[in-house]
Amino acid sequence: MRVMMIMQQKKKMWTFVLQLHVLILLVLFCCKISCILDGSSSMEQKPNYRTAYHFQPPKNWMNDPNGPLYYKGVYHLFYQYNPTSPVFETKISWAHSVSRDLINWVHLERILDPTDSYDNNGCWSGSITILPGGKPAILYTGNNLNDMQSQNLAMPKNSSDPLLREWVKSEHNPLMIPVDESEYKNFRDPTTAWIGLDRIWRVIIGGDGKVFLYKSGDFIGWNRSDQPLHSTLGKTGMWECPDFYPVSVGGKNGLDTSVFNGRIKHVLKVSVMNNTHDDYVIGRYEELTDKFEAESEFMDSRLQMRYDYGKFYASKSFFDSAKSRRILWAWIPESDSEENAIEKGWAGLQSIPRTILLDERRNRLIQWPVKEIDKLRSNEVKIRNKMLKGGALIEIEDITASQADVEASFKLRNLEAAEELDGKNLVNGSLLCSSRRASVRGAIGPFGLIVLASEGLEEQTTIFFHVFRNGTKYVVLMCSDQSRSSLRDDFEKDTYGAFVDVNPLHEEISLRTLVDGSIVESFGGGGLTCITARVYPELAIGKEARLYMFNNGTIDVAISRMNAWSMKSAQFHQLLSS
Ligand code: FRU
Repeated sequence: MRVMMIMQQKKKMWTFVLQLHVLILLVLFCCKISCILDGSSSMEQKPNYRTAYHFQPPKNWMNDPNGPLYYKGVYHLFYQYNPTSPVFETKISWAHSVSRDLINWVHLERILDPTDSYDNNGCWSGSITILPGGKPAILYTGNNLNDMQSQNLAMPKNSSDPLLREWVKSEHNPLMIPVDESEYKNFRDPTTAWIGLDRIWRVIIGGDGKVFLYKSGDFIGWNRSDQPLHSTLGKTGMWECPDFYPVSVGGKNGLDTSVFNGRIKHVLKVSVMNNTHDDYVIGRYEELTDKFEAESEFMDSRLQMRYDYGKFYASKSFFDSAKSRRILWAWIPESDSEENAIEKGWAGLQSIPRTILLDERRNRLIQWPVKEIDKLRSNEVKIRNKMLKGGALIEIEDITASQADVEASFKLRNLEAAEELDGKNLVNGSLLCSSRRASVRGAIGPFGLIVLASEGLEEQTTIFFHVFRNGTKYVVLMCSDQSRSSLRDDFEKDTYGAFVDVNPLHEEISLRTLVDGSIVESFGGGGLTCITARVYPELAIGKEARLYMFNNGTIDVAISRMNAWSMKSAQFHQLLSS
């Protein structure tokens, strides 16, 4: 009897195993059929567009960089993060990653979650200030369930821990609240605070076309000043994520936010919500009277200064005391749809951290990738003193074109051949680039780089220059054209452009472009004009991507120098699930 039962059980088990095998075979077979029908191969994968050396969390949604910091030998990047999905939700947290070199990162636990009455609908953006005695303090915006914004404080639980893994919200929160209901939704993103000679702390908070100034003796009780530090009286909409910092006039170092002396100017940057541009003005700040005299104005289209003319938003800078430099981070949003973000499982990147300095002669900021990223370079390819003939296309081989760093300098002759440009076209570089794309033949230009190109050039992203004449002056236009960047048609393929303040009569025109899968980050004129683009090629991915130099003008252009490298991947580790 017992033997019979065992036999029956075995038979049942074998039947089950057999059924399972049949099921697996059936699934595989169906999958094969569907693969054949849609033309894909089971080995082929949809490109995920993740980057190899631009910062991104392992999954989900990320937006603004928050409170970047150098502390006890460690770089910290905090950022707006949705732990539950790859789309934005107001109820957002602060995530945290650390690095020794700004390139390789370890992801740690989240540090602020929306759990308190003043921030239960989101722990929004903010900054870190190092207080006397060396303790870092976070000021951040809490968004509550009535969508009222307030400014709040958090301190490290253990400030002797270089990793600053745990933070405690202050029992005094909220520290700053809107004066009336009209400000509820327009009162956010405190900057790093600075301390005056009078030992009083100051901080600015973004508002509707203005930045509020608050002062405090103890970092807890804050009073609003009667006058905003700066405003454009309702012309621009909400100013998010302001940044306010000194830059050295003539010096080569970055400065701590609380430095004051006669050889500095101040930069005020605001993130204009209406058009998602990070615009800045330069001026003189009188710290005892708190007067900031800007030398130009936001929304002045002729003098407009923008950190980056592509995708680059909600940026934040910090002073790196280890290397006496100011470093800028920014969120690089997707150009792709929410639907595709859900499919990919992630959305949002951070720019390569950039050093930021004042170019005294031009009275403009210069941005340049931190030098640490040079250690990812390998397989160098060089060109020296080569003529790029009118109509020429040169392939740069032997590097991984989907993950590359390219630097080129162009010398121009025959400038008298430059086309005349009407003054009205000097206002909007993007517009001009859209009508003078890489395929439109000119005289001097378009010339530059074709990146992330497919074999037959069906897919290509072009970064290029045009040189025009305007009266007795030469004008250099820089463009990043995404219109042919992918065979896919379901994402923004805008063309970006801006002028580069170099004089081709006396100076070479330089371009550096960082290519990293779905990001193309370009620096023209040594960092005077920057343009970052997101692209989603289908063919030009991984080893299939190609890189070219081209000249579609009629006039020859000399490449005085070109260096290109494959970029190794940065290391991203996750210490704990977050
Ligand atoms: C900018 C911003 C900030 C806000 C945060 C919320 O992208 O809207 O103003 O604090 O994002 O995530």
